[in-house]
Amino acid sequence: MNMQTDIKNGDVFEIELEAWTDQGETLSHINGLRTVVFGGIPGERVRVEILRVKKEYVAAKVLETLSASKDRQPIDCPYFGECTGCQYRHVTYTTQLEVKKRYLEEVLSSNLSLHNGIVKDVVPSPTQDNYRNHARFTINKEGMLGFIGKETRRFVHITKCLLMSDHINNLMGTLQGKAAQTRQLSIRASEFSEGHLIQPKLKEAGIDVDTGQPFYYEHINANRFKVASPSFFQVNNDQVSNIIEAILGSDMIDENSRVLDAYAGVGTLAILIAPYVKYVLGIEDSAAAVADANENSDGLANVSFEVGKTEDLIFSKDFDFDVAILDPSRKGCAPEALQGLLERTPEKIIYISCEPKTLSRDLAVLNTKYEIMEVIPFDMFPHTYHLESMTFLRLRNG
Ligand SMILES: C[S@@+](CC[C@H](N)C(=O)[O-])C[C@H]1O[C@@H](n2cnc3c(N)ncnc32)[C@H](O)[C@@H]1O
Repeated sequence: MNMQTDIKNGDVFEIELEAWTDQGETLSHINGLRTVVFGGIPGERVRVEILRVKKEYVAAKVLETLSASKDRQPIDCPYFGECTGCQYRHVTYTTQLEVKKRYLEEVLSSNLSLHNGIVKDVVPSPTQDNYRNHARFTINKEGMLGFIGKETRRFVHITKCLLMSDHINNLMGTLQGKAAQTRQLSIRASEFSEGHLIQPKLKEAGIDVDTGQPFYYEHINANRFKVASPSFFQVNNDQVSNIIEAILGSDMIDENSRVLDAYAGVGTLAILIAPYVKYVLGIEDSAAAVADANENSDGLANVSFEVGKTEDLIFSKDFDFDVAILDPSRKGCAPEALQGLLERTPEKIIYISCEPKTLSRDLAVLNTKYEIMEVIPFDMFPHTYHLESMTFLRLRNG
């Protein structure tokens, strides 16, 4: 029990839900304390159970909806609320997209003054389930696969995850009860993959599937990508195709474009746009990913890759580019990388982001010299609060 309050785990309250939090829960107050509620929708009156009492906030989950929002839909997953991987499964898909767009507008507006219409509608995911090609499971002492609840920190044994590809769900079934040697297990496979990748290698007797592969292959459109175990690959193949289509349909690149693809991974974006530009240089920090990228781009004369940090190579590399693609991890770009861009002033920048807060911070820096033309959100992660977006920027004259 927390000394500041007499609220304790397991207590039940009836409350009104006020607003969305930045992680897909709803905000409310109990006895004046900030309360973060899983499984609700703002405006609803609900009965909640307290899960955890912390100094900064009280965590709760919806037990019963007393007055339901029109945006609510039936929950189709038996683990929802115990497993906290999906925050929006109870919210209609149209509303999920609206909530994400509004959130992105709010976060960008906190650092930038954007006029209406700059943030476009969210591009929906062609499939809202079975879209993930990568699962990271927690393993319990009995070797069962599952996930950890965010607030309860309890292990939730899962026999099927609706977000994962069928291929992953089948492999998960085969490995249940046989993975006790490890606490974490990564499975990568999709309807677009050749083979699968399971790490670490499992040594238990009776496992009738190969594990411990150093790499596997994913496909985007007609292209095959080798992905080594340490390398990053986007989790939703269909949405990568949509991002590429949006770039090709824009005026950001043409056959004369000399492109820097910073944070290049296994070369996915560089390789998919290479046929439409003069050349692409990819920069990537992971040597394993660059080895994949070199193999993936074999036969393409106008693509090359360098191992290194964007913030270093942008200054040291003697290379001309008029378009920069930035696709950093959630922490965004290093200040030195942004400084490098402001000094080298490519005519156009395409900033692909998976974290609106760092995007907003970085755009405020770039905005000193670049105009923000449009921001296109992509729903790369349906049923979760995560949000991918692509921003087009253009160097201001003078
Ligand atoms: C979000 S992923 C994007 C990969 C790729 N663009 C794609 O679409 O698959 C970010 C990549 O940046 C790499 N990375 C992280 N920090 C970096 C840095 N400072 N400089 C260059 N690459 C970095 C990571 O290894 C990872 O491959």
